[in-house]
Amino acid sequence: MKNIAILCSGGDVSGMNPALKHFVEYSIQKGLTPYFVYNGYEGLIDDDMKEASYSDVSGIINRGGTKIGSARSQRFREKKYRDIAKQNLDARGIDMLVAMGGDGSFKALDIFYKESGVRFCGIPATIDNDINGTDYSLGVDTALNIIKVSIDAIRDTASSFRRAFVIETMGRDCGYLALISHLTSGSELCLIPEVDYDLKKYEQEFKKQIKNGRRYFIAIVSEGIKQDSSEISEWFESVIGMESRVSILGHIQRGGNPSTYDRLMAYKLVNKAIDGLLDGNQMSVICYTKSGFEFKTIEEVTSKKKELDPELLSYLERF
Ligand code: F6P
Repeated sequence: MKNIAILCSGGDVSGMNPALKHFVEYSIQKGLTPYFVYNGYEGLIDDDMKEASYSDVSGIINRGGTKIGSARSQRFREKKYRDIAKQNLDARGIDMLVAMGGDGSFKALDIFYKESGVRFCGIPATIDNDINGTDYSLGVDTALNIIKVSIDAIRDTASSFRRAFVIETMGRDCGYLALISHLTSGSELCLIPEVDYDLKKYEQEFKKQIKNGRRYFIAIVSEGIKQDSSEISEWFESVIGMESRVSILGHIQRGGNPSTYDRLMAYKLVNKAIDGLLDGNQMSVICYTKSGFEFKTIEEVTSKKKELDPELLSYLERF
């Protein structure tokens, strides 16, 4: 019987629990013994691993976060700890690893593979959707749905009060969440790190709109832009002449009941990852693009920053 383990690394996402459930079920179906590694790479170092069974994953498909915990491990950057991780895996006879995380997590695993020969498959999982080579990362759909519900709720109060709302989304230095949320929520302004902006450009138009009866503005700004959300809010008050509030959505975007799409993708990504490892893949990331599922090398996925879809970007400019 071959042993295979799964872990979560970096920011958790909704979709990890459905993936864990299917990992256990599909591994057993394929004649493998599934193991959970707790708290990301920390669990490899601390030997915090356990054989997983159906009962471990019952009732988790609808839960956000991850039952096995996640972490951003500093220790795994050091060879002495990676050596300990290898010894712990050897002791349990585990030589295949599935890792859900972002590009930083995959880079670490690539180094580990080169030193230890532990084969792995990465499953892109980050609400930021900032991994090069894949159009989709696990959890992004649930995050977008949470943002959508939040913006719709804020619109109710914004329109009742004649106010501008600056809504800040996560994404680190990637504006994907903000851009998609803008295009799908009808907001008036969207600022993302990928596109330089000058607020002056909007001044005349926004003032004209107020004169024509506009009662409120919704601005969606990504956390990585050059200004704080409070500065954009201040601009609405002092330049545009409308009372303004800031709403930082924060970690609410990372939790919640996983969407149907994220659950389905979790299912498919786990299937592909396990099949790939059984077919002899050594170290790859299972990506999803317009051409479907494809294994890509760590080099392809981590060597450059992901660029936003030019078609989506072209919809951004309105004035
Ligand atoms: O990478 C996911 C993410 O949620 C980013 O969007 C955000 O900048 C960061 O993690 C927040 O990290 P933490 O949970 O450590 O505050």
